[in-house]
Amino acid sequence: MRVHDILIVGAGLAGMRAAVAAAPGLDVAIISKVHPVRSHSVAAQGGINAAIHPNDSWEAHAFDTAKGSGYLGDQDAIEVMCQEGPADILELERLGAIFSRNGQGQIAQRPFGGAGYPRTCYAADRTGHSLLHVMYEQLMKKGVFVYEEWYVLSLIVEDKVCKGVIAMDVLRGELHAIGAKAVIFATGGYGRVYSSSTNAVINTGDGMSMAYRAGAPLMDMEFVQFHPTTLRETGILITEGARGEGGYLLNTLGERFMNRYDPQRMELATRDFVSRCEQQEVDEGRGVDGCVLLDLRHLGKKKILERLPQIRELAISFVGVDPIESPVPVRPGAHYSMGGIRTNAWCETELAGFYAAGECACVSVHGANRLGGNSLLETIVFGRRAGVRASEHVRRVKTVEIASAPFLAEQKKVERLLKRKNGERIGPLREELGAAMTEHLGIFRARERMEKALQKIQEVRQRYENIHLEDRGKIFNTELINALELGSLIDLAETIVVGAINREESRGSHYRKDFPQRNDAGWLRHTLAYCTESGPHLEYAPVKITRFPPTQ
Ligand code: FUM
Repeated sequence: MRVHDILIVGAGLAGMRAAVAAAPGLDVAIISKVHPVRSHSVAAQGGINAAIHPNDSWEAHAFDTAKGSGYLGDQDAIEVMCQEGPADILELERLGAIFSRNGQGQIAQRPFGGAGYPRTCYAADRTGHSLLHVMYEQLMKKGVFVYEEWYVLSLIVEDKVCKGVIAMDVLRGELHAIGAKAVIFATGGYGRVYSSSTNAVINTGDGMSMAYRAGAPLMDMEFVQFHPTTLRETGILITEGARGEGGYLLNTLGERFMNRYDPQRMELATRDFVSRCEQQEVDEGRGVDGCVLLDLRHLGKKKILERLPQIRELAISFVGVDPIESPVPVRPGAHYSMGGIRTNAWCETELAGFYAAGECACVSVHGANRLGGNSLLETIVFGRRAGVRASEHVRRVKTVEIASAPFLAEQKKVERLLKRKNGERIGPLREELGAAMTEHLGIFRARERMEKALQKIQEVRQRYENIHLEDRGKIFNTELINALELGSLIDLAETIVVGAINREESRGSHYRKDFPQRNDAGWLRHTLAYCTESGPHLEYAPVKITRFPPTQ
């Protein structure tokens, strides 16, 4: 068995940043189901927030983040992110990130929703792409070993101590136990639990599900962000930067309808709110094919080509509309998981030697609603902190010994899947799960509908026990991987819906028609979901308030 000092699962920005931050001289490896630069961070478009301008302040950034979170964000973690963010941005620049510049040659910043100051740094509308490649260069420079196209099936945990993972080399179809003195999960989100999402097809929440099954609680899973501008049909992201640059949202009457809902912030209100307004326009008959229109024509060709070239290409390719000439049909779409593996501000979880950072974690800086541009910042700040803290931890661990039971259990599970000769295919199960989540756990929620979703999830879970695969081979068996991913999605769907049914209030992205008010007296608390044989067991934990007492 191979043993590393630190094993990082996930090679997006948080994972690579953790690897780069790990102390020199340690044996650090990264394991990813895709090549690192195909990680979903590459799809981040509009930018990364930090108070780098002298007229801005980290305190103002922290206030906007806490307020935008519906005051559910833990303010100790928010303070860390906003205070440390500016230095991280400057470091990214020194490492080679090519940020767009303003007229004075400084890093340009654009306004984003819910922000009191234009503090979103960007590289046109390909910010994630730019940062991910910079981080990959650093990974290569540091000689970090990469298990490329390896799929992790489970965490090895003995007596609440994490000792490594069981993983499959996808090319050869062989299982391996990989030991580690510390494991960092940076496995991203679960957007694919919805039938349409801005997320890559790899975003199946495997890390969250593994941590949950291993005994780490998931926090605030009921909070799912719907991004206000995703393309009709495909749900591909159209960056908030388009509105940050001055784009309008129009209904079918040609009205800038946000004027009726929030005349001050207009299109740059928080995402949860803009998404609800759009859906209301559509539900009340002022939409077009289930969409509203994003109008960029007044920005002019030069600005669109300079600042928003990618979304122009996407709109042309996927809806046949050139934003220079015509408004683009957009609708709210599942985008981001505010919930995840519960951690403290040093990315430590409830299992010794196990850390989490980025979207798979709930540290919690986003609370009930994330501000655009804060997720890239979270990956960089908390990825770095996870790498630093894990490095300190491994110096205290002498050896790693692993019993054979976890490996044998995973081997049996995979063999069972590969041997079964009949049963259901996974495709329909996955479709039914996604449809139930989309229909009943969307922007507007109510008990009866969520209970329907829960019934469907439980039915899918039962049927999942009898799935069969057409591909029983070992080499690059993507059907097997998809089957394992479906298992993760079922776990997470259950935690989302159970948390949402129980939370009888509206806060941030969780809007209940049957409980339309925020209720701080009863619900200013985090939901913790623990895995049990009979489904998620919920407990609640206080929110950390430091300097911003909740106001409406
Ligand atoms: O709209 C966007 O560019 C997405 C940014 C984010 O989710 O932070």
